[in-house]
Amino acid sequence: YVSVAKYFTNTGQKHIIIVMNEQVFEDIFESLPLITLIVDNDMRVLKYNHFAREYFGPDKKNILKSKTGDILSCLNSKEKPSGCGAGEACKSCIVRNSAAKAVSGKKAYKELTDLEIVDQDNNIKHTKMVVTAVSVKTAGEPRIMLIIEDVTGIFQLRDSEMHKSKELSELGMASATIAHELRNPLSAIRMAAYNIKRKANNPLLENNLKNIETKIEESTKIINNLLLFVRHKEPDYEKVNICNILKECVELTKDRFWKKAVKTNLTFNDENIMIEADPFQLKEVFYNLINNAFDVVEDGKGEINICAESDNTSIEISITDNGQGISEENIDKLFRPFFTTKNKGTGLGLSVCKKIITGHKGNINVKSKPGKGASFAITIPIKKG
Ligand SMILES: Nc1ncnc2c1ncn2[C@@H]1O[C@H](COP(=O)(O)OP(=O)(O)O)[C@@H](O)[C@H]1O
Ligand SMILES: [Mg+2]
Repeated sequence: YVSVAKYFTNTGQKHIIIVMNEQVFEDIFESLPLITLIVDNDMRVLKYNHFAREYFGPDKKNILKSKTGDILSCLNSKEKPSGCGAGEACKSCIVRNSAAKAVSGKKAYKELTDLEIVDQDNNIKHTKMVVTAVSVKTAGEPRIMLIIEDVTGIFQLRDSEMHKSKELSELGMASATIAHELRNPLSAIRMAAYNIKRKANNPLLENNLKNIETKIEESTKIINNLLLFVRHKEPDYEKVNICNILKECVELTKDRFWKKAVKTNLTFNDENIMIEADPFQLKEVFYNLINNAFDVVEDGKGEINICAESDNTSIEISITDNGQGISEENIDKLFRPFFTTKNKGTGLGLSVCKKIITGHKGNINVKSKPGKGASFAITIPIKKG
């Protein structure tokens, strides 16, 4: 008794079963983690395995001698008093056709099918099954072994994932359009505010105008971040002085947080570290990180250390604050787009940083102890790779 059968699981793995003798066959048959049935040419079940027993539940007493459509609770079988195989739809039934094809010479025949089944509460459920039919001989008689895998769950998961990513890309497109469209009106407002300030020269207006400026600044930031996030570009490499960029970002941030007393320290192992990088993208990164640090430190007690240290191959820049730190729960989510704990946050800053640094073939990491501040470290190669 030697028989060879092949079947494919939904993961695409190919399995080969070599049935050496009845006992080995029995053992494999019993232990297959798939609904496995031996049926005759009328599709009546002669034998079923442990998994089938579990799948159909303990109260499905009449598996033996029942037709496959009946035990699967196929809608087409249910509607016809004569059972499985009698209805119009049965002509195209894949369970039957696979079996027929297996009988007509193919060792194994596999198909994916949609079955409408009727559950215990008489509700119609749509299922997806992978059906493999294998022609076998048991006790000298030609039979069909049906291996059935319910893949409904896998399909549901895949569909929901696809739906999610489609939604995300639509969101991306929409964001990009809105962000782009908002740029022009914002520049116009900025110009108008600047002109009013210049012409009015009125100290009473000073505060309001400053406010308009900051808000425009913030909006521009959000838009730029969104645009950077949705249409990330490869870096435009130039020779840049990293220390100057860092100093510039610190000054810009201090300006933005002019109301907050924060101590900043810059330390470089070399004042003229030159690297090959995209200056605009790096400014984006440092500005984001320094802004985040300013956000979390306490007025009057805040201290932010910015360090740059280079060797022949790479540069490490760290931005360390003594703010509230990051909880263990949040630390893994930090670089995800749209993750924010701030009322007015976009949650895009760090994901943009990560994209830019990865684009420069570098790394960005964070270390933090809740209550003891946070430290972001960036390493990038000093030469374009
Ligand atoms: N220096 C920091 N200290 C503590 N938490 C931080 C720090 N930087 C970032 N975070 C946390 O990471 C989140 C995401 O930051 P980010 O991507 O820049 O978006 P946003 O600043 O808009 O919230 C912040 O909302 C904050 O919870
Ligand atoms: Mg931020």
